[in-house]
Amino acid sequence: MITGLNIAKQSRQAVVGLTQKRFAHDLVVSPKTGRTIIKTGSGGRSSSNGHVITVFGCTGFLGRYLINRLAREGAHVIVPYRDEDDMRHLKVMGDLGKIVPMEIHLRNKDSLEAAIRHSDTVYNLLGRDYETKNFSFADVHVEAAGILAELAQKHDVDRFIQVSSMNAAIDSTSKFLSTKAEGEQVVRSIFPTATIVRPSFMYGQEDRFLARLAMSRGLSVRINGGKTKVRPVNVSDVAGAMHKMLDGDNTIGETFELVGDQEYTYAQLLDFIKEITNLDHGDLNVPKPIASLMAKAMNLLPWQTLGADEIERMMIDDKLTGAKTFADLDMEPTSLEITGIQYLRRFRTNLYNDEPLKKGVVGKKKTFHTSYL
Ligand SMILES: NC(=O)c1ccc[n+]([C@@H]2O[C@H](COP(=O)([O-])OP(=O)(O)OC[C@H]3O[C@@H](n4cnc5c(N)ncnc54)[C@H](OP(=O)(O)O)[C@@H]3O)[C@@H](O)[C@H]2O)c1
Repeated sequence: MITGLNIAKQSRQAVVGLTQKRFAHDLVVSPKTGRTIIKTGSGGRSSSNGHVITVFGCTGFLGRYLINRLAREGAHVIVPYRDEDDMRHLKVMGDLGKIVPMEIHLRNKDSLEAAIRHSDTVYNLLGRDYETKNFSFADVHVEAAGILAELAQKHDVDRFIQVSSMNAAIDSTSKFLSTKAEGEQVVRSIFPTATIVRPSFMYGQEDRFLARLAMSRGLSVRINGGKTKVRPVNVSDVAGAMHKMLDGDNTIGETFELVGDQEYTYAQLLDFIKEITNLDHGDLNVPKPIASLMAKAMNLLPWQTLGADEIERMMIDDKLTGAKTFADLDMEPTSLEITGIQYLRRFRTNLYNDEPLKKGVVGKKKTFHTSYL
């Protein structure tokens, strides 16, 4: 029988059912600021993990993979952007109101401060492979990184995670890499507990590494005779590692070198791409001075092309310096040979689109995995 008493009892039970139990591990106290970060909900995108995070450089390649991971567990993510069209895809990655776009300009300190003021974590992914008439490498990699670190310090941000690059070195012949190293130093001097991330070339959908090698088709030339050794890393692995750094106390003040599971020469990579795409790649070796001149001439075109500094980077082997790696985050990098076809199949012509891989070799020893086809 439905009585007033029964209804009151049922609604009380419903309220009790909805009230979430709290556990000690739902509450994290920042060792730096004493700020409490309280988790609520079951951990999905409609919950809250208590973090307010600003991701500078979120409109780029790595940014979307990182935001996706942060937003799907209910973080509030501040998304600083320059062009509104470049951040629209990020808004749907989180629940309503969780992704907060804010317009910024690197030379407008107030706009940067507004984007940092309420956050407990700042990721700095700002970077550029080439200089523009408005911004040099130093402007983006050093000066902007320093300003962001200063503002983060001023607003008591708990964690600052700075993305640099593999092979960053002050005395590097590449301006990109030397300014990345300078940026690391500036950030560390202002924000000593910052975590530095040095990824190798990142690959994935819409990358600028495998896609660029595959797109060059028969026109491709080999720089350094294709002998430069690289350890390409999956962009999703880098985003995963950076996500782990959010609450990983063992990452405070550390440097991480994030590289793929294998080392390849460019020549081996071109063979791998040829194997998957059935597209022939030229093997004309172009000496560095000529390649640099060609790059400078191509840079006169109105669209972005390979820059002279990128040619310089293509001459430098990936060398691990003994910094922490994926293993220190209990992660194993994805194998390019297993996942590469996902990103390269689209370069096949219609004649070969559904053909399985031939059993090939990378270099002299390695055999392709064909089981995933
Ligand atoms: N991709 C790789 O293989 C690789 C390898 C080693 C290191 N890294 C480093 O990893 C980070 C992320 O790489 P990514 O591939 O995602 O880079 P990306 O696609 O080129 O994105 C760079 C981001 O930085 C922003 N940015 C650059 N110059 C700016 C400026 N003057 N003012 C405001 N914003 C600016 C871009 O904003 P807009 O969208 O407005 O241009 C974009 O959001 C970068 O620091 C990069 O140097 C990348």
